[in-house]
Amino acid sequence: MHISVFDPASPQAANLLWLWKACMWVCVFIFAVVTASIAYMLVRYRQRDSNEPAQTGGNKKLEVAWTAIPIVLVTLLFVLSVVVARAVDRPVRREPDIVVTGHQWWWQVDYPAAGATTANEIHIPTGQDVLIAVESADVIHDFWVPRLGRKIDAIPGQRNFVWISAKQPGEYLGACAEFCGAQHAWMRFRVEAQNSAAYESWLAAQAGPAAEPSAVDATNGKQRFRQLTCANCHNINGVNPQKQYAPDLTHIAGRKMLAGELIQNTPENLRRWLREPNLIKPGSYMPNFHLDDKDLTDLTAYLAALK
Ligand code: CUA
Repeated sequence: MHISVFDPASPQAANLLWLWKACMWVCVFIFAVVTASIAYMLVRYRQRDSNEPAQTGGNKKLEVAWTAIPIVLVTLLFVLSVVVARAVDRPVRREPDIVVTGHQWWWQVDYPAAGATTANEIHIPTGQDVLIAVESADVIHDFWVPRLGRKIDAIPGQRNFVWISAKQPGEYLGACAEFCGAQHAWMRFRVEAQNSAAYESWLAAQAGPAAEPSAVDATNGKQRFRQLTCANCHNINGVNPQKQYAPDLTHIAGRKMLAGELIQNTPENLRRWLREPNLIKPGSYMPNFHLDDKDLTDLTAYLAALK
């Protein structure tokens, strides 16, 4: 899974790459003309004797040419930009499919119609234009999936919109593209594009309540989740009321990565994270609760069972 604007996987990203190439070729043309002219004049008008060279007072043809050519180039770039902007940023005339909220340093992902919430992993159906509303809970972030669409700022108190889509099923890496504090670099996320049947069943499962633990340690873990202050920030559907100060954990075991793509979501890593989050992600707002071994085992067992 790579992150590159040069390998577009959606019409939006392909349009942007096309515009980038068009601008680059215009710049290459200008660069070539200026460089060649300088080289020619360095040789042609080099000093051969001590006489002052002939002075030219004005040249109407030249002046018209060097005014007209830049106007044509700038107009061309303007028209191309407008055409691409219209294709990429179509007008928003309906409710968003997904609401993404930037937090220091993770992404909250809500599917309003289905009533599902997750974090750092956005599932979309392939072959459809997906409208995402982008918001922020704290500072300015920037939502960007280079292979699927444009960048869009996440600004507190302001709802922005972006269209993304994916032609093929697959995983596409995203990143926060606006410096937002200590862990800006690990404010990554992934978009998982699925065919519509797989997407619908994922969405239905996400909207459902959390799995009920059956094993003894997991059952203890659920109790400890409530007793300790975990429940002050994290939501688990059916366990404590809707709170989104920290990533939703209702189906955390179904996610591939933890901590903004920093570590794989395995029971071992989950335990390491619970033991001392700041060792893994310095500056993270997840505090160190100095949990003892039993709590670590029980909480890990509980969270790992939340498929
Ligand atoms: Cu959020 Cu950078």
